[in-house]
Amino acid sequence: MKILVTGGAGFIGSALVRHAIAAGHGVVNLDALTYAACLDNVASVAGSPLYAFVQADIRDRAALDAAFAAHQPDAVMHLAAESHVDRSIDGPGDFIETNITGTYNMLEAARAYWIGQGKPQGFRFHHISTDEVYGSLPADPSVKFTEDTPYDPRSPYSASKASSDHLVRAWHETYGLPVVLSNCSNNYGPYHFPEKLIPVIILNALAGKALPIYGDGSNVRDWLYVEDHAEALLTVLQKGRLGRSYNIGGENERSNLELVQTLCGILDALRPKPAGSYTDQITFVTDRPGHDARYAIDPSRIRQELGWRPSVTVEEGLTRTVQWYLDNEAWWRPLQARAGVGERLGVKA
Ligand SMILES: NC(=O)c1ccc[n+]([C@@H]2O[C@H](COP(=O)([O-])OP(=O)(O)OC[C@H]3O[C@@H](n4cnc5c(N)ncnc54)[C@H](O)[C@@H]3O)[C@@H](O)[C@H]2O)c1
Repeated sequence: MKILVTGGAGFIGSALVRHAIAAGHGVVNLDALTYAACLDNVASVAGSPLYAFVQADIRDRAALDAAFAAHQPDAVMHLAAESHVDRSIDGPGDFIETNITGTYNMLEAARAYWIGQGKPQGFRFHHISTDEVYGSLPADPSVKFTEDTPYDPRSPYSASKASSDHLVRAWHETYGLPVVLSNCSNNYGPYHFPEKLIPVIILNALAGKALPIYGDGSNVRDWLYVEDHAEALLTVLQKGRLGRSYNIGGENERSNLELVQTLCGILDALRPKPAGSYTDQITFVTDRPGHDARYAIDPSRIRQELGWRPSVTVEEGLTRTVQWYLDNEAWWRPLQARAGVGERLGVKA
């Protein structure tokens, strides 16, 4: 199968590109190469005859039509997005344009191409989204997000992703476009851009800097290893039922404070400080405005219908991740010089 992957130079998209090529699929990686992109993420597969790269912006409909015409994909996996909640608070415009208008352009370009091909039965448009569209959960551990949980997005980022999900469902209902959707919890792992929580904690710890925890650190997230997410995405693409959504989670709920303490413990073991523990660097900072209290995924549907479940525990995945950052300074060091990285963003709501 030849898959047009949007956002394949980003964190999750690049993991998907590497997995898809390892599984023998052709991949056309379409990416605008924004501040969040890094082509080194796909360097290991860039020489493969199965791989092609198109630099294009999903806000540019003509460029999308040209990419479909040139590469004739069997499926689309749409990940390109502005993805950082803190940046969405400071500058929501890019999120509206890329996540909403860009998804609209992708749907229209895919629909025109699909019609032009004679509406092939096997064509798929897989829209990749987030659990943040569901809003915030109470502390009660028995309450989790299912695919029927009403949407209640609370940040510009999650509202823009929710809007894009609605458009994708509408294109299925109205035009019959063969779509599947997935909504995933927080990812972590290799090639995670150094403005997100886990890389920030690892790299600040190594630099002897403060480890910033928003508010009191009680906000709970479910964490999924990115390689497991890539595997889940290929499963949803190939086995998911048309028009259906699948929640994807790691079954690993942690408060932000617990997560940072776990990372400090791993760093203490792998790269001990001359004295003391990395936990000594933990610092509580002003909370994010509208910070959702808890996200948790009920993964029953993907587990029962598609037979997928995560392969690594959060302890194993975090250990692999810390080791990867210790071994790959040449990857992350240059990215720290990009605009906004290392600065506190999203506090001036
Ligand atoms: N990171 C997470 O924990 C998480 C969880 C669930 C869902 N998601 C979703 O998964 C997708 C990928 O997330 P990520 O963390 O890998 O993001 P990322 O920010 O690491 O990568 C996004 C990629 O999209 C590209 N891009 C951005 N705007 C574009 C545009 N206008 N045209 C073309 N390309 C553009 C960027 O250049 C970058 O390569 C997003 O849709 C996100 O909403 C992320």
